Amino acid sequence: FFSSRRRHTRSLCDWSSDVCSSDLKGIRLCGSGAAVPRLRVSNDDLSARVETSDEWIRTRTGIAARRVADETESLTSLAAAAGQQALQNAGWDASSIDLILLATSSPDDLFGSAPKVQALIGAGSAVAFDLTAACSGFLFSLVTAAQYLRTGAMTRALVIGADQLSRWVDWDDRRSCVLFGDGAGAVAIEACPAENDGLLGFRLNSDGARGDCLTLAQTSERAELLPGMSHQRGGYAPIGMNGQEVYKFAVREVPAILKQLLADTNTEAASIDWLLLHQANQRILDAAAERLGIAADKVLSNLANYGNTSAATIPLMLHEAVSDGRIQSGQLIASSGFGAGLSWGAALLRWDGPTS
Ligand code: ACO
Repeated sequence: FFSSRRRHTRSLCDWSSDVCSSDLKGIRLCGSGAAVPRLRVSNDDLSARVETSDEWIRTRTGIAARRVADETESLTSLAAAAGQQALQNAGWDASSIDLILLATSSPDDLFGSAPKVQALIGAGSAVAFDLTAACSGFLFSLVTAAQYLRTGAMTRALVIGADQLSRWVDWDDRRSCVLFGDGAGAVAIEACPAENDGLLGFRLNSDGARGDCLTLAQTSERAELLPGMSHQRGGYAPIGMNGQEVYKFAVREVPAILKQLLADTNTEAASIDWLLLHQANQRILDAAAERLGIAADKVLSNLANYGNTSAATIPLMLHEAVSDGRIQSGQLIASSGFGAGLSWGAALLRWDGPTS
């Protein structure tokens, strides 16, 4: 098994090809990609459906528009397009990847959509599976994929965050429907020598006891199986959310976990080049940056264009900032994902892929 994986040790890296895999304890973030649906729904568009206004949505959330997948698009097609672009930007052949982790809470198939993505991008040697942790899913997946690479079990991975929550939003509930949009983002990572490590630290948390404030819950409808025997027929209720509770959770836990991570890694807040948070609400981003003492011009935000795309927000934002030249190779990125579960996590990253 080990030697079969050695074929993936690449010449693209700036490290010698005779480095033993057991020395490859670091993770390089090598390429990014993104894909969003064509259909753009503005705040004004939405106010034709629910009693709201562009002014209310912008001032409370920072969102101006979101993308919504139509019947020609799917979670799988968006995820595959983002993944393919990340591979292209890393300069990798799809056949060289060992693992595809798809972070999603809205798969096309409850049995998992990652294998379909694997087939679409032609990554025949990769094992592919879904990981569900709502809006924390991308960060949880990145850390999970990194463990396979650090142990030497695998060399290259594609981590995709994708969600199509427009399927599960109650479009008549103005308190939640204005927040969400669809999209996908991806990052290509590979094992590298420890001194080049691009995952400098991480922390992950879950608290199921507080999970009721944000749900996409199973509806159990009793159906007859046989005379005298019943079963639960599957189905899901639309997203249920107590916005204020989620808001309080985010502004408390996100700065706290990032402060812990900076302390763990002996990193000064001033040395962070970019703050890359899950894009839920501009007020959450601003409050977190203020509590951390990070300047507003270091806070990455594309909420205005896409809203909350759940597991996709972090890689979608990362790809945008890499593509427009804001994120440069070697820069330090403090990232945090948070959401349903409740779940939240943080990672300190160093970008090492191509930049514009
Ligand atoms: N348009 C107009 N009025 C609205 C709208 C709307 N879209 N939504 C709510 N209102 C009204 C409410 O009915 C209320 O009116 P009332 O006072 O007459 O009852 C008033 O505006 C204030 O409502 P609040 O809920 O107090 O508004 P708040 O300032 O808390 O903002 C918001 C609501 C934007 C949802 C905020 O609480 C928030 O962003 N919370 C975090 C939500 C979030 O990020 N969820 C996703 C997490 S990630 C994941 O894992 C999926």
